[in-house]
Amino acid sequence: MKLNDVKIINLPKFLDERGNLSFVEEKNHIPFNIERCYWLYDVPGGEERGGHAYKDNCEFIIALSGSFDIVLDDGKEKKTYSLNRSYKGLYVPNGLWRTMNNFSTNSLALILSSMKYDELDYIRSYDDFLKMNIL
Ligand code: TYD
Repeated sequence: MKLNDVKIINLPKFLDERGNLSFVEEKNHIPFNIERCYWLYDVPGGEERGGHAYKDNCEFIIALSGSFDIVLDDGKEKKTYSLNRSYKGLYVPNGLWRTMNNFSTNSLALILSSMKYDELDYIRSYDDFLKMNIL
């Protein structure tokens, strides 16, 4: 079910010979209020980030620079999304196992989150994730 709610969202872009501009607004382009932003940078080649699920937190992920893949898994099916444009983002609802890999050199991932950081919202064991999805 949740994998059907995943969406690549095109953001506005103002092409300009002085340089391009894009933006994102909460409850407009993305379906949640933004409580937190964080970013991943200087990821060494071959490294993987993520490898967890959130109970309630939803995210919107943008490749501000470079490219990377996001692998989403609902416990039955896996889908890989490649991001490589700074005017596109991936909406990831809560309840999906998510991993990020294949980072290009100097890539920059911006993540907008619907909740403040809360370790209790994380499911860090894939076995626990599978058990929670069966219930
Ligand atoms: P984590 O979410 O496990 O990283 P990733 O999913 O990208 O592999 O976070 C790594 C560390 O950073 C962890 O110790 C918690 C801390 N952290 C915060 O303090 N605040 C945050 O908003 C995030 C995302 C992580």
